[in-house]
Amino acid sequence: MANRYRDDPKALDISAKRIVEGSSGVWGEIPMVPHPQHGIEQSRQMMEWVLSLGSESGDVVLSGLKGNFEVPRPEKKKEDVSHVLILEATYLDGGAPPIAPLTGAETIRLRSPRVQAEASTEHDKLVITGRGAGSIAHNSFLKFADMNLTGIRKATVQVSSGGPGGRIEFRHGAIDGMLLGSVDIEPKGDWGKYFGKKLDLKSAPGRGDLFLRFLNDGVGNGIMNLDWVEFAR
Ligand code: HEM
Repeated sequence: MANRYRDDPKALDISAKRIVEGSSGVWGEIPMVPHPQHGIEQSRQMMEWVLSLGSESGDVVLSGLKGNFEVPRPEKKKEDVSHVLILEATYLDGGAPPIAPLTGAETIRLRSPRVQAEASTEHDKLVITGRGAGSIAHNSFLKFADMNLTGIRKATVQVSSGGPGGRIEFRHGAIDGMLLGSVDIEPKGDWGKYFGKKLDLKSAPGRGDLFLRFLNDGVGNGIMNLDWVEFAR
């Protein structure tokens, strides 16, 4: 119905009237019985909802227990923009009298593959600056809570290295949790110049906290600076 009437400004009133008075011959031979008990105002409200379905509001209605829909691609505005996609789904079943329909709801947050150091949920022995993480000391960490790295097998770290350089470890669950991968950052003698370094990751055993741990024993702080990390399949 929404597809048929979306661009017709008169449809709302006409269809609401059909709900109240009944109709036949619009969709096929079977008539719809009248529903005077709902009245025109309530019928207009129901019709407004019908017409909102599948419109540009982004609502997607799927019936049944399974379904797929494509996540819209965020507009590329600025190279450095990080997006979060919030997916909310509610489900209402048909009920089975005397049991009323049951409803369930779930919200999932999907992050951009590029995660800024400033977006970390916790850190230790380093400083968060406008650009990212700086004054990084030995055995410091950035924690990113509740990451879903399913299918993620590669990462790139964007770093600058004016000091001695060191190693970044990706760990699952805790600072000394399962090692997913690591990368060595060599000294470059320039704090201002950021560069990307790639590493391979083992698949994480599920959703969980991700720790980026920085190591270079025997050095004070200033091992390196980290701007962001980007994940890929
Ligand atoms: C509150 C309950 C109901 C609402 C809100 C509702 C709503 C609608 C709407 C908006 C239309 C399309 C009108 C149009 O194209 O302009 C429609 C058509 C139809 N409905 Fe309903 N309906 C309800 C109950 C029922 C019931 C109980 C039946 C069956 C017993 C039914 C059978 C039909 C049929 C067969 C059509 C197509 C009629 C035609 O071709 O003209 N509807 N309904």
